[in-house]
Amino acid sequence: MSASKRAAGRAAAERVQNGMVVGLGTGSTVFFTLERLGERITDEGLSISGIPTSLDTATKARAFGIPIVGFEEVGQIDLTIDGADEIDGDYSMIKGGGGALLREKVVASLSKQVVIIVGLDKVVETLGVSFPLPVEYVPFARTPVKRALLALGAEPTLRAGAGGEAYLTDNGNEIFDCAFEGGIADAEALALALAGTPGIVEHGLFLGLADHLVIGHEDGTAEERSKVGSSGR
Ligand code: A5P
Repeated sequence: MSASKRAAGRAAAERVQNGMVVGLGTGSTVFFTLERLGERITDEGLSISGIPTSLDTATKARAFGIPIVGFEEVGQIDLTIDGADEIDGDYSMIKGGGGALLREKVVASLSKQVVIIVGLDKVVETLGVSFPLPVEYVPFARTPVKRALLALGAEPTLRAGAGGEAYLTDNGNEIFDCAFEGGIADAEALALALAGTPGIVEHGLFLGLADHLVIGHEDGTAEERSKVGSSGR
């Protein structure tokens, strides 16, 4: 498992060019991108600015010597590299397994190009069959959001933290992980319904945001695919 993540994460880091503002995703696959970017900074003198999608990534990026900046200091983001929990043939994704969906979506939406790094096990035919959809909401609205999710056909489970208490995101919000029997039939319709539900801050359906896919394999090789017709934003 980690050989495929390492292969994908490191291959994607080679797409970063001098002077770029780079969106830094979150998760165990992105760790290897951060590691490789740190090496390139040391070995090649690569000069980049990183916008992290989580406190965890910010800490790791700094440890690898990647300069971190805020939105005040940059305009558009040139390239974002991030993992995914599931990705289908249209490059629609479920993200948020690591709880960073809100900042990940903000960063991806501001990026000219988004590169997704996964192992082959994350490539699926139908979203939501094997991975629940994370939905981030303000704690105040837990009960009405749960009712709304049930009405949408979801089976929501409150995400728990290490001590059994409700997990809190970097933004102080909670997450329901939502199972859908048979998977998500109409991701566009579901995304619209979730976005229109008061109390929900963000959901883990990332539609139309990925441009390029790097799939890592256990033999240490990485395969690159581009979305047909995508030239970024
Ligand atoms: C973080 O909230 C997620 O969206 C991650 O990008 C996703 O869970 C992938 O994580 P791994 O690379 O650890 O599998």
